Amino acid sequence: MARLRNSSRLRRKAATPGLDETVLVLGEQGYFALDPARLFGRRAPLEVELGAGKGDFLLAQAAVRPEHDFLAVELNEALARLLALGAWRRRLDNVRVVPADARSLIGLFLPAQAVAAYHVYFPDPWPKRRQRKRRFFTPALASGLARTLRAGGLVYYASDWREYADAMADALAAAGLVPAPEQACAGAQTGYGRKYLAEGRTLYQGVFRAPSDAPLAVAQRI
Ligand SMILES: C[S@@+](CC[C@H](N)C(=O)[O-])C[C@H]1O[C@@H](n2cnc3c(N)ncnc32)[C@H](O)[C@@H]1O
Repeated sequence: MARLRNSSRLRRKAATPGLDETVLVLGEQGYFALDPARLFGRRAPLEVELGAGKGDFLLAQAAVRPEHDFLAVELNEALARLLALGAWRRRLDNVRVVPADARSLIGLFLPAQAVAAYHVYFPDPWPKRRQRKRRFFTPALASGLARTLRAGGLVYYASDWREYADAMADALAAAGLVPAPEQACAGAQTGYGRKYLAEGRTLYQGVFRAPSDAPLAVAQRI
């Protein structure tokens, strides 16, 4: 009973003017609850980096392309806070940071055709066969990227593991995206990209594009 009383008190508090907008994130639009225009306070091409780490690439891009909005998704909360602090210190008002699992964000919270470009650089490779299930870039994620990309939107990806890069390319193709070899991939500009290059390692990278006319895959088994 006491717990119920507390929760109805909480519900009454949620009606307090200002609380909903500032602290409570309410799913007003059902599952696809993240409205980029509302998040950034404007409509601009949206670029999303999954597993952004400390955000070297995203922060540099946001600074030189203020006409685009940049959403960083980073599972590690401490890194996400560091990245957010970096954006705040540089006064980049076109950056938002979500401390979350990229799979949930893409699968549940981003609306269809909202994204102009995805960047996926050096996702943890989990190289041992028994660890592979921990990889976040799966065929299901690729389907989610296809659903949320606008027509002609791009996916940039890179890995220092050829096998993982090939698996990402296969998953993107299976989700209905097509290779865009005319686009340069920026894998060498991220924190890990620079580190791997300095160690003399090869970077395997590529770009895929959402077709402008064909319908994209919306569901796929893992
Ligand atoms: C090897 S680092 C690469 C960081 C950055 N992209 C770069 O190239 O410098 C991989 C990052 O992905 C993050 N990560 C791992 N699983 C994730 C997931 N499911 N969703 C979002 N981020 C994830 C890790 O916390 C880590 O920061």
